[in-house]
Amino acid sequence: MDTVPLLELRGIEKLFPGVKALSNMSFSVKPGSVHVLCGENGAGKSTLCKIINGIHQPDRGEILVNGQSVVMRDPLDARAHRIAMIFQELNFIPELTVEQNLFLGREPVNRFGKVDWKSVRWQTAALLAQEGLPYKPDTQLKELSVSDIQMLEIIKAISYEANILIMDEPTSAISTKEVDMLFRKIAELKAKGAGIIYISHKMDEIFRIADEISVLRDGCLIDTRPAKELDIDTVIRLMVGRQMESVFPEKQDLPPGPVALEVDKLTQGRAFRDVCLTLRQGEIVGLAGLMGAGRTEVVRALFGLDPYTSGTIRLKGEEVAIRDVQDSIGHGMVMVSEDRKRFGIIPVRDCQENMSLSSLKTVMGPWGIKHREERERNAAMSRRLNVKTPSLETLISSLSGGNQQKIVLAKWLLCSPEVLLLDEPTRGIDVGAKFEIYKLITELAQEGKAVLMISSEMEELIGVCDRIYVMAKGRITGELARRNFSQENIMKLALIG
Ligand SMILES: Nc1ncnc2c1ncn2[C@@H]1O[C@H](COP(=O)(O)OP(=O)(O)OP(=O)(O)O)[C@@H](O)[C@H]1O
Ligand SMILES: [Mg+2]
Repeated sequence: MDTVPLLELRGIEKLFPGVKALSNMSFSVKPGSVHVLCGENGAGKSTLCKIINGIHQPDRGEILVNGQSVVMRDPLDARAHRIAMIFQELNFIPELTVEQNLFLGREPVNRFGKVDWKSVRWQTAALLAQEGLPYKPDTQLKELSVSDIQMLEIIKAISYEANILIMDEPTSAISTKEVDMLFRKIAELKAKGAGIIYISHKMDEIFRIADEISVLRDGCLIDTRPAKELDIDTVIRLMVGRQMESVFPEKQDLPPGPVALEVDKLTQGRAFRDVCLTLRQGEIVGLAGLMGAGRTEVVRALFGLDPYTSGTIRLKGEEVAIRDVQDSIGHGMVMVSEDRKRFGIIPVRDCQENMSLSSLKTVMGPWGIKHREERERNAAMSRRLNVKTPSLETLISSLSGGNQQKIVLAKWLLCSPEVLLLDEPTRGIDVGAKFEIYKLITELAQEGKAVLMISSEMEELIGVCDRIYVMAKGRITGELARRNFSQENIMKLALIG
Protein backbone atom coordinates (compact mmCIF):
# COMPACT_ATOMS: atom_id res chain seq x y z
CA MET A 1 0.00 0.00 0.00
CA ASP A 2 1.29 3.43 -0.88
CA THR A 3 1.39 5.83 2.03
CA VAL A 4 0.26 9.39 1.45
CA PRO A 5 3.37 11.59 1.23
CA LEU A 6 3.81 14.09 4.06
CA LEU A 7 4.48 16.68 1.46
CA GLU A 8 4.02 16.81 -2.26
CA LEU A 9 4.81 19.43 -4.85
CA ARG A 10 3.16 19.31 -8.25
CA GLY A 11 4.29 21.26 -11.28
CA ILE A 12 5.92 24.08 -9.32
CA GLU A 13 7.31 26.94 -11.35
CA LYS A 14 9.21 29.98 -10.09
CA LEU A 15 10.55 32.94 -12.01
CA PHE A 16 12.97 35.55 -10.74
CA PRO A 17 13.99 38.55 -12.82
CA GLY A 18 16.09 37.06 -15.59
CA VAL A 19 16.00 33.43 -14.37
CA LYS A 20 13.59 30.59 -14.28
CA ALA A 21 14.61 29.15 -10.94
CA LEU A 22 12.21 26.19 -11.12
CA SER A 23 10.17 24.69 -13.89
CA ASN A 24 7.58 21.96 -13.64
CA MET A 25 9.05 20.63 -10.38
CA SER A 26 7.38 17.69 -8.80
CA PHE A 27 8.71 16.28 -5.59
CA SER A 28 7.48 14.46 -2.51
CA VAL A 29 8.60 13.44 0.96
CA LYS A 30 7.48 10.20 2.56
CA PRO A 31 6.95 9.83 6.30
CA GLY A 32 9.99 8.54 8.16
CA SER A 33 12.44 9.25 5.36
CA VAL A 34 15.18 11.57 4.22
CA HIS A 35 14.90 13.04 0.74
CA VAL A 36 18.15 14.61 -0.44
CA LEU A 37 18.28 17.36 -3.05
CA CYS A 38 21.42 17.51 -5.19
CA GLY A 39 22.41 19.94 -7.88
CA GLU A 40 25.02 22.46 -8.92
CA ASN A 41 25.14 25.94 -7.47
CA GLY A 42 22.09 27.79 -8.69
CA ALA A 43 20.17 24.65 -9.66
CA GLY A 44 17.16 25.74 -7.61
CA LYS A 45 17.48 23.71 -4.38
CA SER A 46 17.12 26.59 -1.93
CA THR A 47 14.33 28.15 -3.98
CA LEU A 48 12.38 24.91 -3.79
CA CYS A 49 12.78 24.81 -0.01
CA LYS A 50 11.85 28.45 0.39
CA ILE A 51 8.64 27.81 -1.53
CA ILE A 52 7.79 24.97 0.83
CA ASN A 53 8.54 27.24 3.76
CA GLY A 54 6.34 30.06 2.45
CA ILE A 55 9.16 32.54 1.83
CA HIS A 56 8.66 32.58 -1.93
CA GLN A 57 5.34 32.09 -3.69
CA PRO A 58 5.33 29.77 -6.70
CA ASP A 59 4.14 31.23 -10.01
CA ARG A 60 2.46 27.97 -10.83
CA GLY A 61 1.82 24.58 -9.27
CA GLU A 62 0.42 23.07 -6.14
CA ILE A 63 1.65 22.15 -2.67
CA LEU A 64 -0.01 19.33 -0.73
CA VAL A 65 0.51 18.54 2.94
CA ASN A 66 -0.79 15.13 4.00
CA GLY A 67 -2.67 14.94 0.74
CA GLN A 68 -4.43 18.29 1.21
CA SER A 69 -3.75 21.20 -1.10
CA VAL A 70 -2.43 24.18 0.86
CA VAL A 71 -1.17 27.71 0.27
CA MET A 72 1.90 28.86 2.16
CA ARG A 73 1.70 32.62 2.34
CA ASP A 74 4.56 32.96 4.79
CA PRO A 75 6.73 30.95 7.17
CA LEU A 76 4.02 31.16 9.83
CA ASP A 77 1.69 29.24 7.55
CA ALA A 78 4.43 26.69 7.06
CA ARG A 79 4.92 26.40 10.80
CA ALA A 80 1.19 25.85 11.24
CA HIS A 81 1.59 22.90 8.88
CA ARG A 82 4.44 21.69 11.08
CA ILE A 83 7.20 22.59 8.65
CA ALA A 84 10.50 24.02 9.92
CA MET A 85 13.62 25.03 8.04
CA ILE A 86 17.32 25.47 8.69
CA PHE A 87 18.59 28.10 6.27
CA GLN A 88 21.69 27.90 4.14
CA GLU A 89 22.48 31.56 4.73
CA LEU A 90 22.65 32.03 8.46
CA ASN A 91 20.46 35.04 9.05
CA PHE A 92 20.73 36.32 12.54
CA ILE A 93 20.79 39.55 14.47
CA PRO A 94 24.23 39.75 16.09
CA GLU A 95 22.90 41.67 19.10
CA LEU A 96 20.38 38.98 20.04
CA THR A 97 21.26 36.57 22.79
CA VAL A 98 21.18 32.81 22.41
CA GLU A 99 17.88 32.57 24.31
CA GLN A 100 16.23 35.44 22.43
CA ASN A 101 17.21 33.81 19.15
CA LEU A 102 15.93 30.38 20.17
CA PHE A 103 12.53 31.69 21.22
CA LEU A 104 12.11 34.49 18.68
CA GLY A 105 8.46 34.74 17.73
CA ARG A 106 7.34 32.03 20.16
CA GLU A 107 8.27 33.47 23.54
CA PRO A 108 6.31 31.92 26.37
CA VAL A 109 4.07 34.43 28.16
CA ASN A 110 3.01 34.50 31.78
CA ARG A 111 -0.56 35.03 32.99
CA PHE A 112 -0.17 38.80 32.62
CA GLY A 113 0.59 38.44 28.94
CA LYS A 114 4.26 39.39 29.38
CA VAL A 115 7.17 37.38 28.05
CA ASP A 116 8.20 34.92 30.72
CA TRP A 117 11.95 35.44 30.54
CA LYS A 118 12.59 33.14 33.47
CA SER A 119 10.99 30.30 31.59
CA VAL A 120 12.92 31.25 28.42
CA ARG A 121 16.12 31.15 30.45
CA TRP A 122 15.62 27.71 31.95
CA GLN A 123 14.20 26.19 28.78
CA THR A 124 17.22 27.46 26.87
CA ALA A 125 19.61 26.20 29.52
CA ALA A 126 17.90 22.80 29.43
CA LEU A 127 18.05 22.62 25.65
CA LEU A 128 21.74 23.61 25.57
CA ALA A 129 22.59 21.10 28.29
CA GLN A 130 20.67 18.34 26.56
CA GLU A 131 22.63 18.88 23.35
CA GLY A 132 25.89 19.45 25.17
CA LEU A 133 26.44 22.94 23.78
CA PRO A 134 28.76 24.94 25.99
CA TYR A 135 27.43 28.50 25.60
CA LYS A 136 25.31 30.46 28.03
CA PRO A 137 21.69 31.54 27.33
CA ASP A 138 22.63 35.22 27.62
CA THR A 139 25.63 35.13 25.24
CA GLN A 140 25.17 37.46 22.29
CA LEU A 141 25.28 35.80 18.88
CA LYS A 142 28.08 38.08 17.71
CA GLU A 143 30.34 36.36 20.27
CA LEU A 144 29.78 33.00 18.61
CA SER A 145 31.55 31.46 15.64
CA VAL A 146 29.80 30.39 12.44
CA SER A 147 29.82 26.79 13.58
CA ASP A 148 28.29 27.65 16.97
CA ILE A 149 25.50 29.54 15.25
CA GLN A 150 24.88 26.72 12.82
CA MET A 151 24.54 24.28 15.74
CA LEU A 152 22.14 26.67 17.39
CA GLU A 153 20.02 26.85 14.24
CA ILE A 154 19.92 23.07 14.13
CA ILE A 155 18.70 22.63 17.69
CA LYS A 156 16.27 25.50 17.20
CA ALA A 157 14.70 23.88 14.14
CA ILE A 158 14.52 20.52 15.88
CA SER A 159 12.90 22.10 18.94
CA TYR A 160 9.89 23.11 16.83
CA GLU A 161 8.99 19.42 16.74
CA ALA A 162 8.14 19.79 13.10
CA ASN A 163 6.82 16.99 10.99
CA ILE A 164 8.69 18.15 7.93
CA LEU A 165 12.15 19.49 8.51
CA ILE A 166 14.07 21.22 5.75
CA MET A 167 17.84 21.38 6.14
CA ASP A 168 19.63 23.52 3.58
CA GLU A 169 23.34 22.73 3.94
CA PRO A 170 23.16 22.33 7.71
CA THR A 171 26.69 20.99 7.97
CA SER A 172 28.62 23.54 5.93
CA ALA A 173 30.35 24.89 9.04
CA ILE A 174 30.20 22.23 11.74
CA SER A 175 32.68 19.58 12.83
CA THR A 176 32.53 15.83 12.21
CA LYS A 177 31.45 15.22 15.78
CA GLU A 178 28.58 17.64 15.40
CA VAL A 179 27.61 16.07 12.09
CA ASP A 180 27.36 12.72 13.87
CA MET A 181 25.12 14.30 16.45
CA LEU A 182 22.91 15.80 13.75
CA PHE A 183 22.64 12.45 12.00
CA ARG A 184 21.58 10.77 15.25
CA LYS A 185 18.89 13.43 15.60
CA ILE A 186 17.76 12.82 12.05
CA ALA A 187 17.47 9.10 12.80
CA GLU A 188 15.33 9.88 15.86
CA LEU A 189 13.10 12.18 13.84
CA LYS A 190 12.70 9.54 11.15
CA ALA A 191 11.72 6.95 13.75
CA LYS A 192 8.98 9.33 14.86
CA GLY A 193 7.68 9.43 11.31
CA ALA A 194 8.97 12.86 10.32
CA GLY A 195 10.15 13.63 6.81
CA ILE A 196 13.41 15.43 6.16
CA ILE A 197 14.51 17.38 3.11
CA TYR A 198 18.27 17.57 3.11
CA ILE A 199 20.65 19.59 0.93
CA SER A 200 24.40 19.22 0.90
CA HIS A 201 27.32 19.38 -1.50
CA LYS A 202 29.17 16.75 0.53
CA MET A 203 28.64 13.54 -1.36
CA ASP A 204 29.75 11.10 1.33
CA GLU A 205 27.38 12.76 3.76
CA ILE A 206 24.47 12.43 1.37
CA PHE A 207 24.93 8.72 1.00
CA ARG A 208 25.05 8.22 4.76
CA ILE A 209 21.52 9.47 5.31
CA ALA A 210 19.55 9.58 2.08
CA ASP A 211 16.57 7.33 1.49
CA GLU A 212 15.73 9.07 -1.76
CA ILE A 213 17.76 11.41 -3.93
CA SER A 214 16.48 13.98 -6.39
CA VAL A 215 18.85 15.70 -8.75
CA LEU A 216 18.07 19.18 -10.06
CA ARG A 217 19.72 20.92 -12.96
CA ASP A 218 18.86 24.44 -14.12
CA GLY A 219 15.58 24.41 -12.23
CA CYS A 220 14.39 21.11 -13.67
CA LEU A 221 14.09 17.76 -11.98
CA ILE A 222 16.48 15.37 -13.67
CA ASP A 223 15.66 12.26 -11.68
CA THR A 224 14.39 10.93 -8.35
CA ARG A 225 15.61 7.54 -7.23
CA PRO A 226 16.05 5.49 -4.07
CA ALA A 227 19.53 6.19 -2.70
CA LYS A 228 20.51 2.53 -2.84
CA GLU A 229 20.13 2.53 -6.61
CA LEU A 230 22.64 5.38 -6.93
CA ASP A 231 26.33 5.99 -6.28
CA ILE A 232 28.46 9.12 -6.01
CA ASP A 233 29.68 9.06 -9.62
CA THR A 234 26.18 8.67 -11.00
CA VAL A 235 24.85 11.54 -8.90
CA ILE A 236 27.71 13.79 -10.01
CA ARG A 237 27.08 12.87 -13.63
CA LEU A 238 23.38 13.67 -13.27
CA MET A 239 24.24 16.96 -11.56
CA VAL A 240 26.77 18.32 -14.00
CA GLY A 241 25.44 16.59 -17.09
CA ARG A 242 28.81 15.06 -17.95
CA GLN A 243 31.35 12.62 -16.58
CA MET A 244 33.91 14.22 -14.26
CA GLU A 245 37.28 12.61 -14.93
CA SER A 246 38.99 13.73 -11.79
CA VAL A 247 38.28 15.68 -8.65
CA PHE A 248 41.71 17.28 -8.29
CA PRO A 249 43.94 18.82 -10.92
CA GLU A 250 47.23 17.19 -11.82
CA LYS A 251 50.05 18.14 -9.45
CA GLN A 252 53.41 19.16 -10.82
CA ASP A 253 56.32 18.75 -8.50
CA LEU A 254 58.08 22.06 -8.93
CA PRO A 255 60.79 23.05 -6.50
CA PRO A 256 59.40 25.74 -4.19
CA GLY A 257 60.72 29.27 -4.49
CA PRO A 258 62.06 31.64 -1.87
CA VAL A 259 60.24 32.16 1.41
CA ALA A 260 57.20 34.39 1.01
CA LEU A 261 55.82 34.37 4.54
CA GLU A 262 57.50 33.45 7.75
CA VAL A 263 55.65 33.39 11.00
CA ASP A 264 57.63 33.01 14.20
CA LYS A 265 56.15 32.22 17.61
CA LEU A 266 52.92 34.01 16.87
CA THR A 267 50.73 34.06 19.96
CA GLN A 268 47.32 35.43 20.73
CA GLY A 269 46.05 35.14 24.30
CA ARG A 270 44.51 31.75 24.74
CA ALA A 271 43.52 31.30 21.10
CA PHE A 272 46.90 30.09 19.82
CA ARG A 273 50.47 29.93 21.02
CA ASP A 274 53.96 29.86 19.48
CA VAL A 275 52.76 29.28 15.97
CA CYS A 276 55.69 28.98 13.57
CA LEU A 277 55.17 28.44 9.88
CA THR A 278 56.79 29.15 6.54
CA LEU A 279 55.22 29.58 3.13
CA ARG A 280 57.35 29.56 0.04
CA GLN A 281 56.49 31.09 -3.28
CA GLY A 282 54.81 28.51 -5.44
CA GLU A 283 53.61 26.46 -2.51
CA ILE A 284 50.13 25.48 -1.43
CA VAL A 285 50.24 24.76 2.25
CA GLY A 286 47.35 23.30 4.23
CA LEU A 287 46.38 24.14 7.76
CA ALA A 288 44.50 21.16 9.13
CA GLY A 289 42.96 20.49 12.50
CA LEU A 290 39.69 19.99 14.25
CA MET A 291 37.18 22.74 14.65
CA GLY A 292 38.29 25.03 17.45
CA ALA A 293 41.99 24.15 17.04
CA GLY A 294 42.78 27.81 16.34
CA ARG A 295 43.29 27.70 12.58
CA THR A 296 40.86 30.49 11.72
CA GLU A 297 42.24 32.60 14.57
CA VAL A 298 45.80 32.32 13.20
CA VAL A 299 44.74 33.33 9.72
CA ARG A 300 42.60 36.19 11.03
CA ALA A 301 45.57 37.52 12.98
CA LEU A 302 47.83 37.27 9.92
CA PHE A 303 45.29 39.24 7.93
CA GLY A 304 45.02 41.89 10.61
CA LEU A 305 41.43 41.20 11.64
CA ASP A 306 42.46 40.44 15.22
CA PRO A 307 45.58 41.62 17.05
CA TYR A 308 48.27 39.14 18.03
CA THR A 309 49.97 39.49 21.38
CA SER A 310 53.49 38.45 20.46
CA GLY A 311 55.60 36.91 17.73
CA THR A 312 56.82 38.14 14.38
CA ILE A 313 55.59 38.05 10.80
CA ARG A 314 58.03 38.35 7.92
CA LEU A 315 57.00 38.88 4.35
CA LYS A 316 59.71 38.25 1.75
CA GLY A 317 62.25 38.31 4.54
CA GLU A 318 61.21 41.65 5.95
CA GLU A 319 59.58 41.95 9.33
CA VAL A 320 56.19 43.63 9.09
CA ALA A 321 53.72 44.85 11.68
CA ILE A 322 50.17 43.87 10.80
CA ARG A 323 47.76 46.04 12.76
CA ASP A 324 44.81 46.01 10.42
CA VAL A 325 43.58 44.70 7.11
CA GLN A 326 45.08 47.64 5.20
CA ASP A 327 48.51 46.60 6.42
CA SER A 328 48.22 43.08 5.11
CA ILE A 329 46.61 44.01 1.80
CA GLY A 330 49.32 46.63 1.38
CA HIS A 331 51.87 43.86 1.73
CA GLY A 332 50.12 41.73 -0.87
CA MET A 333 48.47 39.33 1.57
CA VAL A 334 44.75 38.69 1.31
CA MET A 335 42.25 36.40 2.98
CA VAL A 336 39.06 34.64 1.94
CA SER A 337 37.00 34.35 5.07
CA GLU A 338 34.88 31.37 6.10
CA ASP A 339 32.27 33.86 7.19
CA ARG A 340 31.06 35.23 3.89
CA LYS A 341 28.13 37.11 5.39
CA ARG A 342 30.22 39.12 7.81
CA PHE A 343 33.40 39.72 5.84
CA GLY A 344 32.97 38.62 2.25
CA ILE A 345 30.36 40.58 0.37
CA ILE A 346 28.61 43.90 0.10
CA PRO A 347 25.04 42.66 -0.36
CA VAL A 348 23.60 45.90 -1.77
CA ARG A 349 26.11 45.95 -4.63
CA ASP A 350 26.13 44.00 -7.87
CA CYS A 351 28.45 41.16 -8.80
CA GLN A 352 30.62 43.43 -10.91
CA GLU A 353 31.36 45.79 -8.02
CA ASN A 354 31.84 43.01 -5.52
CA MET A 355 34.33 41.36 -7.83
CA SER A 356 36.31 44.52 -8.55
CA LEU A 357 36.42 45.75 -4.98
CA SER A 358 39.97 44.73 -4.18
CA SER A 359 41.58 44.99 -7.58
CA LEU A 360 40.53 48.38 -8.94
CA LYS A 361 44.18 49.39 -9.00
CA THR A 362 44.93 46.85 -11.69
CA VAL A 363 42.32 48.27 -14.09
CA MET A 364 43.11 51.89 -13.38
CA GLY A 365 44.26 53.93 -16.35
CA PRO A 366 45.44 57.54 -16.49
CA TRP A 367 41.81 58.68 -16.84
CA GLY A 368 40.21 56.50 -14.23
CA ILE A 369 38.89 52.98 -14.27
CA LYS A 370 39.12 51.25 -17.63
CA HIS A 371 35.57 49.95 -17.50
CA ARG A 372 35.77 47.79 -20.57
CA GLU A 373 38.86 46.04 -19.39
CA GLU A 374 37.32 45.61 -15.95
CA ARG A 375 34.17 44.07 -17.44
CA GLU A 376 36.02 41.73 -19.74
CA ARG A 377 38.30 40.56 -17.00
CA ASN A 378 35.42 39.98 -14.58
CA ALA A 379 33.35 38.24 -17.22
CA ALA A 380 36.22 35.90 -18.05
CA MET A 381 36.70 35.01 -14.39
CA SER A 382 33.01 34.45 -13.83
CA ARG A 383 32.80 32.21 -16.91
CA ARG A 384 35.73 30.26 -15.63
CA LEU A 385 34.14 29.69 -12.22
CA ASN A 386 30.83 29.04 -13.94
CA VAL A 387 29.05 31.72 -11.90
CA LYS A 388 25.33 31.41 -12.46
CA THR A 389 23.72 34.83 -12.63
CA PRO A 390 21.47 36.61 -15.13
CA SER A 391 24.24 39.20 -15.52
CA LEU A 392 27.14 40.68 -13.62
CA GLU A 393 24.92 43.69 -12.92
CA THR A 394 22.68 41.51 -10.72
CA LEU A 395 22.77 42.20 -6.99
CA ILE A 396 25.06 39.69 -5.35
CA SER A 397 22.50 38.98 -2.65
CA SER A 398 20.10 37.47 -5.17
CA LEU A 399 22.63 34.84 -6.22
CA SER A 400 22.52 31.33 -4.81
CA GLY A 401 24.81 30.63 -1.83
CA GLY A 402 27.50 28.87 -3.81
CA ASN A 403 27.55 31.52 -6.51
CA GLN A 404 28.09 34.25 -3.93
CA GLN A 405 31.06 32.30 -2.64
CA LYS A 406 32.44 32.10 -6.19
CA ILE A 407 32.26 35.90 -6.48
CA VAL A 408 34.12 36.32 -3.19
CA LEU A 409 36.87 34.04 -4.41
CA ALA A 410 36.97 35.79 -7.76
CA LYS A 411 37.44 39.10 -5.99
CA TRP A 412 40.59 37.96 -4.25
CA LEU A 413 41.95 35.94 -7.15
CA LEU A 414 41.64 39.01 -9.39
CA CYS A 415 43.85 41.16 -7.23
CA SER A 416 46.74 38.73 -7.79
CA PRO A 417 48.09 38.80 -4.26
CA GLU A 418 51.50 37.50 -3.25
CA VAL A 419 50.12 35.52 -0.34
CA LEU A 420 46.62 34.07 -0.24
CA LEU A 421 45.04 33.00 3.01
CA LEU A 422 42.02 30.82 2.29
CA ASP A 423 39.66 29.80 5.06
CA GLU A 424 37.31 27.08 3.82
CA PRO A 425 37.38 28.42 0.25
CA THR A 426 35.08 25.78 -1.23
CA ARG A 427 32.40 25.82 1.41
CA GLY A 428 29.03 25.35 -0.26
CA ILE A 429 30.53 25.02 -3.74
CA ASP A 430 29.40 22.24 -6.05
CA VAL A 431 31.73 19.49 -7.25
CA GLY A 432 32.23 20.87 -10.74
CA ALA A 433 33.17 24.35 -9.58
CA LYS A 434 35.42 22.95 -6.85
CA PHE A 435 37.64 21.46 -9.51
CA GLU A 436 37.91 24.88 -11.23
CA ILE A 437 38.85 26.51 -7.94
CA TYR A 438 41.53 23.93 -7.21
CA LYS A 439 42.88 24.52 -10.70
CA LEU A 440 42.98 28.27 -10.16
CA ILE A 441 44.75 27.88 -6.83
CA THR A 442 47.26 25.53 -8.44
CA GLU A 443 47.89 27.95 -11.28
CA LEU A 444 48.38 30.84 -8.88
CA ALA A 445 50.97 28.78 -7.07
CA GLN A 446 52.69 27.99 -10.37
CA GLU A 447 52.86 31.74 -11.00
CA GLY A 448 54.80 32.03 -7.77
CA LYS A 449 52.09 32.94 -5.28
CA ALA A 450 52.04 31.38 -1.84
CA VAL A 451 48.84 29.86 -0.55
CA LEU A 452 47.82 28.92 2.97
CA MET A 453 44.58 27.03 3.04
CA ILE A 454 42.32 25.90 5.85
CA SER A 455 39.88 23.16 5.11
CA SER A 456 37.87 20.78 7.20
CA GLU A 457 37.81 18.38 4.28
CA MET A 458 41.00 16.40 4.65
CA GLU A 459 40.63 14.96 1.16
CA GLU A 460 40.74 18.46 -0.25
CA LEU A 461 43.97 19.29 1.58
CA ILE A 462 45.51 16.00 0.53
CA GLY A 463 44.41 16.61 -3.07
CA VAL A 464 45.81 20.11 -3.56
CA CYS A 465 48.50 20.87 -0.97
CA ASP A 466 52.28 20.49 -1.13
CA ARG A 467 52.65 20.47 2.63
CA ILE A 468 50.26 20.39 5.56
CA TYR A 469 50.61 21.84 9.03
CA VAL A 470 48.32 20.37 11.65
CA MET A 471 47.05 22.31 14.64
CA ALA A 472 45.52 21.14 17.89
CA LYS A 473 44.49 23.25 20.85
CA GLY A 474 46.10 26.42 19.58
CA ARG A 475 49.47 24.91 18.70
CA ILE A 476 51.07 23.46 15.62
CA THR A 477 51.49 19.80 16.42
CA GLY A 478 53.20 18.69 13.25
CA GLU A 479 53.99 19.14 9.61
CA LEU A 480 53.49 16.62 6.84
CA ALA A 481 55.24 16.41 3.49
CA ARG A 482 53.30 15.18 0.49
CA ARG A 483 54.68 11.67 0.69
CA ASN A 484 53.30 11.36 4.24
CA PHE A 485 49.83 12.65 3.45
CA SER A 486 47.02 10.49 4.75
CA GLN A 487 43.87 11.07 6.72
CA GLU A 488 45.27 8.93 9.55
CA ASN A 489 48.47 10.96 9.80
CA ILE A 490 46.53 14.21 9.88
CA MET A 491 44.12 12.89 12.50
CA LYS A 492 46.95 11.63 14.70
CA LEU A 493 48.42 15.13 14.86
CA ALA A 494 45.01 16.80 15.19
CA LEU A 495 44.25 14.77 18.30
CA ILE A 496 47.49 15.51 20.17
CA GLY A 497 47.23 17.45 23.41
N1 LIG B 1 15.71 36.29 -4.36
C1 LIG B 1 16.15 36.04 -5.58
N2 LIG B 1 16.09 36.98 -6.55
C2 LIG B 1 16.53 36.72 -7.79
N3 LIG B 1 17.05 35.55 -8.19
C3 LIG B 1 17.14 34.57 -7.28
C4 LIG B 1 16.70 34.77 -5.93
N4 LIG B 1 16.91 33.62 -5.24
C5 LIG B 1 17.46 32.76 -6.12
N5 LIG B 1 17.59 33.32 -7.34
C6 LIG B 1 18.12 32.66 -8.54
O1 LIG B 1 17.47 31.43 -8.70
C7 LIG B 1 18.37 30.40 -9.13
C8 LIG B 1 18.33 29.25 -8.15
O2 LIG B 1 18.93 29.64 -6.93
P1 LIG B 1 18.96 28.73 -5.64
O3 LIG B 1 19.37 29.61 -4.51
O4 LIG B 1 17.69 28.00 -5.50
O5 LIG B 1 20.13 27.71 -5.99
P2 LIG B 1 20.73 26.50 -5.14
O6 LIG B 1 20.46 25.25 -5.90
O7 LIG B 1 20.26 26.57 -3.75
O8 LIG B 1 22.31 26.77 -5.23
P3 LIG B 1 23.49 26.70 -4.11
O9 LIG B 1 24.01 25.30 -4.14
O10 LIG B 1 24.53 27.63 -4.64
O11 LIG B 1 22.94 27.14 -2.83
C9 LIG B 1 19.72 31.07 -9.24
O12 LIG B 1 19.96 31.39 -10.57
C10 LIG B 1 19.60 32.32 -8.39
O13 LIG B 1 20.42 33.34 -8.88
MG1 LIG C 1 21.16 27.06 -1.96
